[in-house]
Amino acid sequence: MSQMPVLSDAARGFMPLTMAARARRQPIVPVLGRAPRVHLWHIGCQMNDADREGLAEQFADIGFVPEVPLEQADLAVLITCTVRANAEQKVFGKFRELIPWKREQPGRAIALTGCMAVEHGEAILDQLPELDYVFDVREPDGFMAKLQALHAIDLDGPMPLPASDRLCAYVPVMGGCNEMCTYCIVPFVRGREQSRPVHEVVKHVERLVARGVRDVTLLGQNVNSYRDPDSGGRLPELLAAVDSVTGLWRLRFLTSHPRNAVPALFEAMAGLPTVCEQLHLPVQAGHDSLLRRMRRLYTVEEYRAKIDAARATVRPRLAVSTDVIVGFCGETDAEFAASEAMLRDIRFDTVHLAAYSVRPGTAAARRADDVPPAEKKRRLNHLLAVQRDIAARINAGYVGTEVEVLVEGAAADGRCFGRTRENKVAWLPPRAAGAGSLVRGRVDAATAWQLHVTPAAAA
Ligand code: SAM
Ligand code: SF4
Ligand code: F3S
Repeated sequence: MSQMPVLSDAARGFMPLTMAARARRQPIVPVLGRAPRVHLWHIGCQMNDADREGLAEQFADIGFVPEVPLEQADLAVLITCTVRANAEQKVFGKFRELIPWKREQPGRAIALTGCMAVEHGEAILDQLPELDYVFDVREPDGFMAKLQALHAIDLDGPMPLPASDRLCAYVPVMGGCNEMCTYCIVPFVRGREQSRPVHEVVKHVERLVARGVRDVTLLGQNVNSYRDPDSGGRLPELLAAVDSVTGLWRLRFLTSHPRNAVPALFEAMAGLPTVCEQLHLPVQAGHDSLLRRMRRLYTVEEYRAKIDAARATVRPRLAVSTDVIVGFCGETDAEFAASEAMLRDIRFDTVHLAAYSVRPGTAAARRADDVPPAEKKRRLNHLLAVQRDIAARINAGYVGTEVEVLVEGAAADGRCFGRTRENKVAWLPPRAAGAGSLVRGRVDAATAWQLHVTPAAAA
């Protein structure tokens, strides 16, 4: 395990522990006479979606039945997030809901993994007396081996993975983050950057495509610093390799850091047929001094130039999304006003807004969290309203133009829904097309969040 970057004493606690050190309690293990069943629950970013998929496969490999509803489960696994205090509160809330479920039937157990497991380590076993296991999702082998040994008598070899009708999937191509944004706990809980080789990613995508997946998002906290450990190839080369997988229709990638958003990346986006016209490029703030305090190593002007270059290269129309934090330490009215001005100037399709939340062990935790909660909320709501208006205007510009929709399913009233290449939610008339079809159509109406599309033949 590589050494994680450490900024403060509190962060020293975030070292991964071996499974053996975490097995403080031995849950009662009943003989079931059948394979144990597992309920998985997750919260947080797309990395946790991908980890959930990975864990489901690993449970199936050791002979457990993954992904059953809670009432049918013997083991509940919480895949957690700690990026903001409210994510942790949701996990504690979910945990409280599980206590009566566990007490209902002897032998039921609860495991906790994901980013909170690394943050709290085995100390969380003292905090949550009903918790049975804590393990590191990046190194689940010790946990799986332990379960396999405990339940040996009920296991009958690997289980087939349940059939999946998924069209879209996340594929992690690198873990960890080497940036040290002062507000962020992710480098502590996810460790340093480690990329998977291109050939391994391609095999993973081929496996998914063989199971019916058509839209793949390559994942990394800082995905555009990807570097193949064998060849040194960067993200554009990885995109080119995955683009050539037969049967894949759409390719996306998340999350890019502005520092590493280079012309070669935009050219790859423009030139590779499966790569969609969508770029998520978190800016975090619209004032240079705020960016410096956050340790985001670019200026607003440099960021703006990257967006201009991306828009000029990826034609005809690139959807751009971002993340913005409001109420960071010492954020003045003028700095906040600059963030608003930047949103109005750049005009993003989507903005993920968050109120600053102090995270233990980060550099910013040593500064005063001096924007009062009510003011953070006011700033958040203000930018939400500003952005709703911008998104509505951008989407209104789609009316009368043609889009391509990958149909994902139908609502109860029969209307079909899916997403465009720009990742916009699109609605089609009832029974317009089955899930898994690609439909071209004209946009007839739009709101801030959705497009209404008439298929080409009927248009
Ligand atoms: N790697 C990405 C980047 O470069 O911005 C983001 C990953 S982070 C999991 C997702 C988002 O959470 C960040 O972009 C940031 O806006 C937000 N975030 C991270 N730490 C936060 C904190 N302490 N308080 C509020 N929001 C936070
Ligand atoms: Fe966190 Fe993203 Fe900054 Fe990494 S680049 S420290 S994940 S905000
Ligand atoms: Fe949360 Fe961990 Fe993702 S802290 S946002 S689940 S990397």
